[in-house]
Amino acid sequence: MNVLVIGGGGREHAIIMALAKSGKVDKLYCAPGNGGISKYAECHPVKATDIEGCVELAKKLQPDYVFVAPDDPLVLGMVDRLNEEGFKTFGPRANAAILEGSKVFSKALMKKYGIPTAAYETFTEADKAISYINQQNSYPAVIKCDGLALGKGVIIAKDFEEAKAAVNSMLLDGKFGKSGSEIVVEEFMTGPEVTVLAFTDGKTVKPMVSSMDHKRAYDNDEGLNTGGMGTIAPNPLYTKKIADECMEKIFMPTIKAMASEGRPFKGCLYFGLMLTPKGPKVIEYNCRFGDPETQVVLPLLKTDMMDIITAIWEEKLDSLDIEWSDKACACVVMASGGYPEKYETGKEISGLDDMGQTENVFVYHAGTRLEEGKFLTAGGRVLGVTATGDDLQSALDTAYKAVKTISFEKAHYRTDIGKRALNK
Ligand code: AMP
Ligand code: GLY
Repeated sequence: MNVLVIGGGGREHAIIMALAKSGKVDKLYCAPGNGGISKYAECHPVKATDIEGCVELAKKLQPDYVFVAPDDPLVLGMVDRLNEEGFKTFGPRANAAILEGSKVFSKALMKKYGIPTAAYETFTEADKAISYINQQNSYPAVIKCDGLALGKGVIIAKDFEEAKAAVNSMLLDGKFGKSGSEIVVEEFMTGPEVTVLAFTDGKTVKPMVSSMDHKRAYDNDEGLNTGGMGTIAPNPLYTKKIADECMEKIFMPTIKAMASEGRPFKGCLYFGLMLTPKGPKVIEYNCRFGDPETQVVLPLLKTDMMDIITAIWEEKLDSLDIEWSDKACACVVMASGGYPEKYETGKEISGLDDMGQTENVFVYHAGTRLEEGKFLTAGGRVLGVTATGDDLQSALDTAYKAVKTISFEKAHYRTDIGKRALNK
């Protein structure tokens, strides 16, 4: 089979590698891809948000499947358009991708179906939101844009002044455009976070190995929120008992709720969970694989990825056994200095080995381009240096050893990925 993957970051590189390992894949295409991906897939310079451009590309390439990886094209209905043109796909249609595309929708769904999440109210008028926050008088206050905002639409305000500024920036100043024209104000929850990615065909849900992201830019969870500076899998805080509870109270109820709303979810559903003193609760849903969670989860997948994609398309996921390795995996993101704020690109990367570094190490490219045989930096997050090991400590040791062999000007990475998980 030939597969076209839409997207061009570290997550897509990990998806491409899982597909490259499949015995059923002949040719891989990617749009737009990146420097690292171009070694394994034929890359085409069409933006992932260009719905009609990607549909045209699919018509030209005639792949057996199109795998839509990022949130924006899914929310914009790329899968719907591809299906209309007769293509088989991996990823939810727009009416299910709304689970990530609208927090107002997902919160209302959880309320209606009794799925545990933070208590909340929604607002379109700033003065009403501000008087609600004042009346609640509970800080930190959590204020979220309804729509997609590149991971920046969540503000945890430590006092009333900060909360008021957040509300005004969204509802009055239009800082997040249409995404911020409605907001959610919710209860602040505490506890460790767990990501669980799950395969689902709309009826059956099969959770993958759990993981833990590290969202802040600097060590000890300091600095600004980023797309993710590193991940580990499995997450040692996610015990069998918690997994069973999540299956019963969160995963299955979500899949059933979406089906009974006439919005069956097909693809990968991302559960962002918090293990609160009152049990696991949903922080957010994403309608796709996480980045950089995918980089540590897919290397542990033993089942052929193409069998899973086919089973989901045919809605036969219940009859497929998905197997996972019992090893651990760690990913350390090397970013451009200054990320997530201003940073420079075009720096030459040295120390990369085409063969995937040493044994047990693979370097996923997030923001690189290949120019005259040289890899140059081309984004905020540049590389995801990933290692597997018999346990988390050895995976981390191997990943950090590999990080030290790679360099580019002003490279920045966290030195404490996995530390909290090891000291649980
Ligand atoms: P989100 O984009 O919704 O995942 O939010 C980004 C981050 O903000 C999460 O990973 C949490 O660390 C934090 N966060 C979001 N909602 C809450 C909440 N209700 N209570 C505490 N922290 C939260
Ligand atoms: N790593 C967080 C996300 O993919 O949204």
